[in-house]
Amino acid sequence: MFQLKTLALLSPLLFAGICTPVLRERLAQAPPPAFDHQVDSVLALMTLDEKIGQMTLFTTDWGSTGPTIREGYKEDLRQGRCGALFNSQGVAFTRELQRIAVEESRLKIPLLFGFDVIHGYKTIFPIPLGEAASWDLAAIEKSASTAAAEAAAAGLHWTFAPMVDISREPRWGRVMEGAGEDTYLGSLVARARVRGFQGKNFDNADKILACVKHYAAYGAPLAGRDYATVDMSERMFREVYLPPYHAAVDEGARTVMTSFNELDGVPATGNSWLLDGILRKEWGFTGFVVTDYTSINEMVNHGIVANEKEAGELAANAGVDMDMQGAVFQNYLEKSVAGGQVKEAQIDEAVRRILRVKFELGLFADPYKYCNEERERKVILSKENQDAARDVARKSIVLLRNEGVLPLNKNLKTLAVVGPLAADKDNLTGAWSGSGEGRHCVSLLEGIKSKLPGANILTAKGCDIEGTDRSGFAEAVEAARQAGAVIVAVGESRDMTGEAAARAGITLPGVQEELVRQLVATGKPVVVVLMNGRPLAIPWLAENAPALLETWWLGTQAGNAIADVLFGDYNPAGKLPITFPRSVGQVPIFYSEKNTGRPFNPASKWTSKYLDLPNSPQFPFGFGLSYTTFSYGETKVDKKTFRRGEPLHVSVSVTNTGSRDGEEVVQLYVRDLVGSVTRPVKELKGFQKISLKAGEQREVKFTLTENDFAFFTRPMKFGAEPGEFDVMVGGSSDNVKMVRVRMEE
Ligand code: BGC
Repeated sequence: MFQLKTLALLSPLLFAGICTPVLRERLAQAPPPAFDHQVDSVLALMTLDEKIGQMTLFTTDWGSTGPTIREGYKEDLRQGRCGALFNSQGVAFTRELQRIAVEESRLKIPLLFGFDVIHGYKTIFPIPLGEAASWDLAAIEKSASTAAAEAAAAGLHWTFAPMVDISREPRWGRVMEGAGEDTYLGSLVARARVRGFQGKNFDNADKILACVKHYAAYGAPLAGRDYATVDMSERMFREVYLPPYHAAVDEGARTVMTSFNELDGVPATGNSWLLDGILRKEWGFTGFVVTDYTSINEMVNHGIVANEKEAGELAANAGVDMDMQGAVFQNYLEKSVAGGQVKEAQIDEAVRRILRVKFELGLFADPYKYCNEERERKVILSKENQDAARDVARKSIVLLRNEGVLPLNKNLKTLAVVGPLAADKDNLTGAWSGSGEGRHCVSLLEGIKSKLPGANILTAKGCDIEGTDRSGFAEAVEAARQAGAVIVAVGESRDMTGEAAARAGITLPGVQEELVRQLVATGKPVVVVLMNGRPLAIPWLAENAPALLETWWLGTQAGNAIADVLFGDYNPAGKLPITFPRSVGQVPIFYSEKNTGRPFNPASKWTSKYLDLPNSPQFPFGFGLSYTTFSYGETKVDKKTFRRGEPLHVSVSVTNTGSRDGEEVVQLYVRDLVGSVTRPVKELKGFQKISLKAGEQREVKFTLTENDFAFFTRPMKFGAEPGEFDVMVGGSSDNVKMVRVRMEE
């Protein structure tokens, strides 16, 4: 043990020297050799059994997302047969488990504690899809760093986030957990979230490891059913689905989680092309790879191996380092090494990667580094964190329709606040809400009451989220009749999104729409507040609600944030990060489609269209209204013809033409008119969120470089092809002004 103790004494110095502000960059590229030394000296002491222990991650007896197949995990800690735990949080609990590992196991290697801190730990922020609607990267980073600070204060080292799966599948329940349909926006959000979680270094124990998931292409399941087959061309995969994972790894994320799905016939968890090839060889990833929950075991069901032993071999040889909850490595890997199916060198490499990350966190120097009760009391649910949550929540709201109703007047004497979600707190955290609790959330009703303390507020539930019971309609309608304005909160329940929560129909559940119709029929100004985790198909509301506000699941400060918007204390500026269809029959529907050989032409039957619906979505990607209006001048370029490699400067003048100050997300799209392979009609390549005073005008400038015109060409080489391009700027993907340019060699 002398060697380890010496290590523990030395490592603070070594660690301090290494954790300079450039840690992120350095760790992503080349790990400092000093760690290799330390890691190797630990490795040299380990038995094969202990090595496999480091490759083993178990849930404790708290919450889990699958069968808890392991009961004796504490004995595993003593035996050195488990190196990491998840679903164990709180300083008292993690301290006790860490104590077992570092005092009762032979090698005293510290444990790593993970948890799904997806959009907040205790202070809950908007669901990630909602946050993406803010298009505000600083706010998103702040949300992740607040979540990290709270999680770290609760003894956690590692979050299973960000989830960066691009998805064009509103039926898929996990669409709420990502940044939507777009690769460019998704990649920037992925980076912001990694920066927020990990920061520049782990010196102050207020940052946690990020885990990029679910690698790869989990967001494209056939027919939207969770865990279903994913199959797509390599070009589509590399262009649309892969870049956000790369962006997150490039930003320094230290861990990556494999996905449940197969890709081109090979489950991601046994896919050496993905893990060893792209992730490690192409991108130079030096952190460790963890599987998703029992996804090694599930390769038997996939039909790629005959039994769990073979599944473990496939995973280990493909480059998996840590087995989440499956106990396959624990049960079989030793036999596989004895039988020669897995080389011990492969195991050593996996253990090195895991130990290195534990060193980077500083756990060898102080295994109790994240166990600080005082900090736990101070940081979690602090006033500062509530303020941050309210700020991001307001920014995530998208105003979808407003027939002159909003903002409401604060002098209203009587107000009806109705609907199944009006007074609800439990749903506001949304799915994957960490340790968040409904009792800490501000409901819409509470938010409105504290905004208008003197008003007479009538409330009625009207109906449930689901079911056919209309017996509460009359009370809600009566409240509406007596009120100067009506706010009705409808949507989904939180468990209708998240894992294993696909819906084949994506309309408003139950009889909620009927309730809204009756309220609208009173002729009163009705504001429909939507709370949901996916794009909904709501054509009647979209065309008839006097005002319609998409509020997703906004988290702990939901009610205050929505009230800020309803009464004009905040001017909404969110823009949809995903297309809202008119009907589920249009799915998949997304803005960056191809033109086809027969693009839609209303004058011709023989073009690409539906007989019973327009091609266009209900609300397009990038769409969102404000209480003010913005007008765009022509899109200008500094030169109509430019050479490959030369930057192209684009500018547009944007004016706030209304009478209120407001923010606008100015979006830039590009189209390559002729390519060696066909190109989408539009691809987002830049955006800027600007703030303009009423009447103010501003020149917004973008610089496009060769990469912005690049794609995977016919021979699968990434690069730009000279020729004509359209550059388009506007406030929504369906409302842009175009200029044509030419790139020359
Ligand atoms: C989910 C992951 C999650 C893990 C641990 C799985 O079922 O797919 O996203 O991180 O459980 O809770």
